[in-house]
Amino acid sequence: MKRVTLMEVFTHPITQKYLKRSGIAHAIKTADHAFRLAIAFNVNPDLATKAALLHDIGHYEWYTDGKWDYEKYRKNDIHAIKGANRAHKLLIRLGEKPEAAKQIALAILLHTDSYLPDGNLKQNPLQRIVRLADELDEEPGGMHHYRQIDEKLALKKIRTLDKKVEKYYSQLKSIV
Ligand SMILES: [Fe+2]
Repeated sequence: MKRVTLMEVFTHPITQKYLKRSGIAHAIKTADHAFRLAIAFNVNPDLATKAALLHDIGHYEWYTDGKWDYEKYRKNDIHAIKGANRAHKLLIRLGEKPEAAKQIALAILLHTDSYLPDGNLKQNPLQRIVRLADELDEEPGGMHHYRQIDEKLALKKIRTLDKKVEKYYSQLKSIV
């Protein structure tokens, strides 16, 4: 079965529409971190980079009178739930294997516990990596969501990441 590439995922209009809200530069940087962590911890880099790239695809714009409303966001946000659902739908549509789409969706669902009731979350290595990759790129006050990246450079980085994943992809047997 042919691998669905990061390029296919990234350039899809759904991805472009929603990642522009949460920041394309942040999504790519998180995918970069996820690749390195996946190799270091022997996790499938294909799943890790896709989940990292799409982890914030569920964001909604919380505005009050034209201004970003952080309080409203903290109180009402469910971006991990929406993101998991959105990413799953997109990946299946692109021809992703259902098992892989599920693993990616779950990693997105659990990349943050800001929306969950208190308690300890038991995460598998893939889920931990995506969370850690996101945290590595976080800036105070959520500024990482506003960092910009040139469109051509973004495509170049995605292409490079695809090449790196393909190199390791065949060497990993397990799905997680
Ligand atoms: Fe994030």
